[in-house]
Amino acid sequence: MSAQAAPLAEAAFRQVMRAWATGVAVLLVPEGGGWQGMTVNAVTSVSLDPPSVLVVVARGRAAHTALVPACGQVFTLSVLAERQASLADRFARHCVRYLVAEEAEWTPAGHAVVPGALGWLDCRVAAAHEAGDHTIVVATVEAGQSSALDGASPPLLFWAGRYHGGERLRALATGDPTS
Ligand SMILES: Cc1cc2nc3c(=O)[nH]c(=O)nc-3n(C[C@H](O)[C@H](O)[C@H](O)COP(=O)(O)O)c2cc1C
Repeated sequence: MSAQAAPLAEAAFRQVMRAWATGVAVLLVPEGGGWQGMTVNAVTSVSLDPPSVLVVVARGRAAHTALVPACGQVFTLSVLAERQASLADRFARHCVRYLVAEEAEWTPAGHAVVPGALGWLDCRVAAAHEAGDHTIVVATVEAGQSSALDGASPPLLFWAGRYHGGERLRALATGDPTS
């Protein structure tokens, strides 16, 4: 009988995944007449035809309740810039957070996105697949726009459990303590 590997301890799994660098986005979904936000980094482009993305959402999260039972539910993703770490913090807190109308920018379809984001996508839920304690939400992208990706406004990055920006990463690489 072949020996089965012991399941990876949660702490060890988390530690490996801390090495995985990602961008950071705010997911906004309509709920109760407002736009409920959640910070997400489990976002991947899935298909070009039709344009699709996936986002992985923990079960039990308020955004999960708003998103998952409804195929066809609209939501937006806003790709955060380095200077928007405080927004990422705000929408990662444990309790429902809303982007109020005065704070929002609006897509042509009338959906809320984060002003000053590096890009946004207008999405519609196409499928939801249960995966452990999370749900993989696959969505068709109905519209999108990005700002000029010329380096003038670097993305917000998440690595080793912390936010980073372009300048900070360059400083880590060069050991420049002044950055
Ligand atoms: C950088 C970052 C990325 C995150 N990415 C995800 C994600 O992809 N999926 C997810 O379910 N939660 C993610 N979270 C956690 C949620 O933002 C957080 O649990 C949620 O906003 C809390 O909402 P609640 O009030 O419903 O508990 C992330 C948090 C941070 C700080």
